[in-house]
Amino acid sequence: MINNDIEIAVQKVPEDQLKTKPDQNNLGFGNFFTDHMFSMHWNRQQGWHEAKIHPFQQLQLDPAAMVLHYGQAIFEGLKAYRTKDNRILLFRPQDNFARMNKSAIRMCMPRFPAERVLQALRALIYLDKEWVPHAKGATLYIRPTMIATEPMLGLRAAEEYQFFIINCPVGAYYSEGFNPTKIYIEDEYIRAVPGGVGDAKTAGNYAASLKAQIGAQKKGYTQVLWLDAKQRKYIEEVGTSNIFFVIDNVLITPPLKGSILPGITRDSVLQLAEDWGMQVEERRISIDEIVKACEDGSLQESFGTGTAAVIAPVGEFCYREKEFTINGGNTGPVAQKLYNELQAIQFGEQEDNHGWVVPVS
Ligand code: COI
Repeated sequence: MINNDIEIAVQKVPEDQLKTKPDQNNLGFGNFFTDHMFSMHWNRQQGWHEAKIHPFQQLQLDPAAMVLHYGQAIFEGLKAYRTKDNRILLFRPQDNFARMNKSAIRMCMPRFPAERVLQALRALIYLDKEWVPHAKGATLYIRPTMIATEPMLGLRAAEEYQFFIINCPVGAYYSEGFNPTKIYIEDEYIRAVPGGVGDAKTAGNYAASLKAQIGAQKKGYTQVLWLDAKQRKYIEEVGTSNIFFVIDNVLITPPLKGSILPGITRDSVLQLAEDWGMQVEERRISIDEIVKACEDGSLQESFGTGTAAVIAPVGEFCYREKEFTINGGNTGPVAQKLYNELQAIQFGEQEDNHGWVVPVS
């Protein structure tokens, strides 16, 4: 039973101790944090309790906390957008919280009261509203996280957890901005196996991706594109995003079969493309099909989709030391149109026909 009536206390930072805000035109990604955060705790006796919005502070964690040993850690990423008329909007927050509760189930962690946490998030952002950037393209990135805090070294699901939300004003995720990225197709390491945790947003998936990402970056690539674990044949996803291709005017992305993250931007892109009447396919795509489509010119575009990355056009792939340029290394019209339309909805400049946008106040 999840208690949606949990009480939320508020403890504010005194006015004269508020942080100095960073230059909104040089935010980068993930470097600065707002004045306040939300947190709550769970144990078997009390369920979720001690929910509060309070000054941003370090966690108190026992060195035996189970998250540090057995990795029960899940998180989400969503954003708040400032509109031209100074409203603040969230994009599909209920979907992030629903996905987080699915990740919780997969990682044997307690589900949390999503409706109540959304209320807490709105209150938190309202309190720190001056942190939601005014600068063009900049947003407030929101990071809900849950970790196992019980101090215990036996291997089992922990019986104590902390949930928290921290917020961070951000610019573009990639240094390329919206310019095309270069992607290395990884055929040695893999990200996720069928039956594993690839479709849960759990910290270990990201730790497991680092070795390949470092290798790709050393070779001059922005990110890794993962292939399936069994045959190293089918396209899965990029390190930070889902992946799309436009082949012969059809928009194609790998299906959600348990080993890739069910992206909320991915779902929004599929929906927008369908609204335009574009043919859309969620199906297995082999790397051979992509190589062939590059060679015969039928691959018109490719781009990644994610909350942090938004729409990230791909200008070049490298597979087995061979380089393939896509659309002359330029952003294609589908990626551009999706980016424009998605951002217009998120920033409240275009009508939201899908009920995706949630105002903060
Ligand atoms: C997001 O897009 O929100 C993510 O969690 C990806 C992360 C690597 C920044």
